[in-house]
Amino acid sequence: MEAGLRRFLVSFMPLALYLCYIVYTGKNVPKPRTSGCSLLPHSHYWIASKRIVTPHEIISGAVEINGGRIISLVKEKDWHETVKNKPVIDYGNAVVMPGLIDVHAHLDDPGRTEWEGFPSGTKAAAAGGITTLIDMPLNSHPSTVSKETLQLKINAAKGRIFVNVGFWGGLVPENAFNASILENLLDAGALGLKSFMCPSGINDFPMTDSSHIKEGLSVLAKYKRPLLVHAEKQQEIELDDGVDDPRSYSTYLKTRPASMEETAIRELLTVAKDTRIGGPAEGAHVHIVHLADSRSSLELIKEAKINGDSLTVETCPHYLAFSSEDIQDGDTRFKCAPPIRDAPNKEKLWEALMDGDIDMVSSDHSPSAPELKLFAEGDFLRAWGGISSLQFVLPVTWSYGLKYGITLEKLVSCWSEKPAKLASQDLKGAIAIGKHADIAVWEPEEEFDLDGNHPVHLKHPGISAYMGSRLTGKVLATFVNGNLVFEDGKHAPAACGTTILA
Ligand SMILES: *[C@@H]1O[C@H](CO)[C@@H](O)[C@H](O)[C@H]1NC(C)=O
Ligand SMILES: [Zn+2]
Repeated sequence: MEAGLRRFLVSFMPLALYLCYIVYTGKNVPKPRTSGCSLLPHSHYWIASKRIVTPHEIISGAVEINGGRIISLVKEKDWHETVKNKPVIDYGNAVVMPGLIDVHAHLDDPGRTEWEGFPSGTKAAAAGGITTLIDMPLNSHPSTVSKETLQLKINAAKGRIFVNVGFWGGLVPENAFNASILENLLDAGALGLKSFMCPSGINDFPMTDSSHIKEGLSVLAKYKRPLLVHAEKQQEIELDDGVDDPRSYSTYLKTRPASMEETAIRELLTVAKDTRIGGPAEGAHVHIVHLADSRSSLELIKEAKINGDSLTVETCPHYLAFSSEDIQDGDTRFKCAPPIRDAPNKEKLWEALMDGDIDMVSSDHSPSAPELKLFAEGDFLRAWGGISSLQFVLPVTWSYGLKYGITLEKLVSCWSEKPAKLASQDLKGAIAIGKHADIAVWEPEEEFDLDGNHPVHLKHPGISAYMGSRLTGKVLATFVNGNLVFEDGKHAPAACGTTILA
């Protein structure tokens, strides 16, 4: 719905609200007090909608925001007494829900800002209803593996982020056996650690095995923070030069079979059991990132959860949207690790997400300079792996999930509530009194074509696997810390997101 139409509809609302509306849109609106942080001139206001997703129910009513927090919630029938003399932004039938919290993004800043960067990445996030990103410790340069390198990230983010940004630190062989380096990194605010069980593709981020992970978990236990693990274990795989065309996705798939995930997870679980109550790393938590294999790997994870391991798992929109059979020869936009698997595997991923066996979804937004995608050669074996998606993860999850019965509540659970819990952000991830006013407003029924006419805020739209698709669910507005940071295709002029440090 257009802003003009939405504001026109306001005139059908009760008189008290109508008067407030006059205050909001009147010619003499006060100058923004927030010096460009918000597209709204107020810090105390109401957001009204017929579909507000709260932790217990979806209500028709309004949310009161003041000073960056949600201070009250009222149902429509109680409006008259409560809403007095404050501006109201009425979003009509659009959904008002907690902003998405993306626990897995690569913003590549500092050091590889030709790939992404804090300003472009957080603008894309804001345009997609994401209000908090947790940035991965690799693909920036240097990698975030110490207090000093974390400080470089914090400095680089200052005044350059449009949404909130937190940071995972890296667990690498160099620091795994040195508790003081890890403690300094965690004391400096890293929300947890991330490690790879296979080569990461980045030289200063080497892989770890279960012995490093065991050490990492024992330090994390004291801090009650998670270890995020890329669970793939390398295998010797023979390709036949005559038969296996590097332009064919099936060749790439052959180099990273599901057994790589399964083997890694099996090894990981030998140390993840330390996180059980009474175990040597009680308090630590293991989170498996971007699960692609919905067969044996998922069974192992389910079993470990039953056995009491402190364990969660995420998958990503590209595994839920695409299947390997449909990827065209040479279209390296779709290269990622682990790879996108076949259609029946995708069906099972959806089942697991809907059943709660997969806890959450994250973007694993991982762009590169377009040249590294080698579009001319279309060589899947040599092209940079990473899917660029940040702005579209909400409509993608929704569009592809409709077939599997996704609901607004499920969306909030897997994109806001559970990610908030993983990153220990108690004041985020819900529309409830006292929580941060991090809010996404969107139209679940509105369809759009992701073509040249659509305003794309990704740094390199051409490398996004979603360009050319038709999606359902249009983001109208995004609020971060009570600031309206995005509305109707426009961003607030100033970058006022906060860095989240533990
Ligand atoms: C841990 O790392 C610090 C800083 O690099 C170093 O000074 C210290 O000697 C290391 N400790 C051990 C036990 O290796
Ligand atoms: Zn990643």
